[in-house]
Amino acid sequence: ISSAVSLENGLARTPPMGWLAWERFRCNTDCKNDPDNCISCSYILEINLFTFEAQESQFVQKLSKLGQKERNQYGELVPDRTRFPRGMKALSDYVSDSILKFGIYEDFGNYTCAGYPGVIGNLQQDAETFASWDVDYVKLDGCYAHPSEMDRGYPEFGFYLNRTGRGMICSCSWPVYQIYAGMAPNFTSIIQSCNMWRNFDDIQDSWVSVESIIDYYGNNQDVIVPNAGPGHWNDPDMLIIGNFGLSYEQSKTQMAIWAILAAPLLMSVDLRTIRPEYKAILQNKKIISVDQDPLGIQGRRIYKHKGIEIWSRPITPLYQNYFSYAIAFVNRRTDGTPSDVAVTLKELGLSSPTGYRVEDLYEDVDYGVLSPQTKIKVKVNPSGVVILRADVQVDFDRRVSYYTTQRTPYNPLNQVFRIRNNGF
Ligand SMILES: *[C@@H]1O[C@H](CO)[C@@H](O)[C@H](O)[C@H]1NC(C)=O
Ligand SMILES: *[C@@H]1O[C@H](CO)[C@@H](O)[C@H](O)[C@H]1NC(C)=O
Ligand SMILES: *[C@@H]1O[C@H](CO)[C@@H](O)[C@H](O)[C@H]1NC(C)=O
Repeated sequence: ISSAVSLENGLARTPPMGWLAWERFRCNTDCKNDPDNCISCSYILEINLFTFEAQESQFVQKLSKLGQKERNQYGELVPDRTRFPRGMKALSDYVSDSILKFGIYEDFGNYTCAGYPGVIGNLQQDAETFASWDVDYVKLDGCYAHPSEMDRGYPEFGFYLNRTGRGMICSCSWPVYQIYAGMAPNFTSIIQSCNMWRNFDDIQDSWVSVESIIDYYGNNQDVIVPNAGPGHWNDPDMLIIGNFGLSYEQSKTQMAIWAILAAPLLMSVDLRTIRPEYKAILQNKKIISVDQDPLGIQGRRIYKHKGIEIWSRPITPLYQNYFSYAIAFVNRRTDGTPSDVAVTLKELGLSSPTGYRVEDLYEDVDYGVLSPQTKIKVKVNPSGVVILRADVQVDFDRRVSYYTTQRTPYNPLNQVFRIRNNGF
């Protein structure tokens, strides 16, 4: 339950947003043969400029990884001077001079997944090193560790992070490794040590991978959803929008579902070359605003039948006991033609008698104020999405009846969204 005791470092009150190298660039450290793509200081500086431009201060986190190659004679992590000639603190200073914050990857284990030093045996020292580098965000992976030791080890590292006095977001892989080992993660404890955590597989550059994640979060929502809230989030992994594997429709679906899931929005894409239509998806302010809703309630899959899914997330504003909602209609079918979905607001659980102002978050269409009895009809493209926002109205019955009896909703998309009024 989100009101349970949780990590109170004051951070990640809404899901963190930013850019990570991993999904797109992997462990490329070959600066000799691939200078444009290897993970190095100059590469991060270059991407940094684009992150800044791409997200117009919406995205604030940023992760570098593969910087700490080894330990010195005192056991301290030391940067790879070939790729980070001025070290991690200088990089952190540079990144933090912009609107971004600085994140780093490590591993609760003997090694990182790529074989670099892990934190086991150096928990306190590494926490202090990160604080001295002005790190804002620590991702702690779980390779080369015993999953049964994580219940003790992750909180211990969290304790040392806290003791540094520097607020650092703690991103954990603790539950996913335990689930892989057949254990049931103790989320009560995880919430107390982590600002976010991975539940499921690493995302790969394909729609199959995105679908498997969507299914995992839908099928396990009764266990997963209650753990999310301000300061502690489920992390379905990076946004792969703008890479090679997703179509335009599928990219829109990933962005919409991640917002419904109150997911961290962590891009992993080459911002130097991303096409404008994909950049526009990542920059969709209305969808980002759903993701960043201050209530921090994770949404759910409320309908699934014959390849059609409806996902719903309660958001602000509230009026009396009624929430506003973001609603995503997803078409998982592949039969070539858009599918119609017709449903009343009431059937979606939107029952405030004062009505809801409804807008489409991709098509920039405002449908005015609709009553709960209004039947909405959307056309959803194969592997695509229609995402709506329905803001509950303050008590203003005259306006409801005005819109629902006298106004034909403006529809530039000719029959993409038809509204039929019942009940008035
Ligand atoms: C990590 O190293 C220690 C000390 O060598 C060893 O006891 C432990 O089993 C190792 N853990 C894993 C997961 O390999
Ligand atoms: C450390 O933990 C205490 C107790 O939960 C909290 O009040 C404080 O803000 C934390 N400090 C940092 C730097 O995370
Ligand atoms: C889960 O963690 C909480 C908080 O640390 C602890 O009180 C509880 O006993 C743990 N539950 C189990 C089943 O281990």
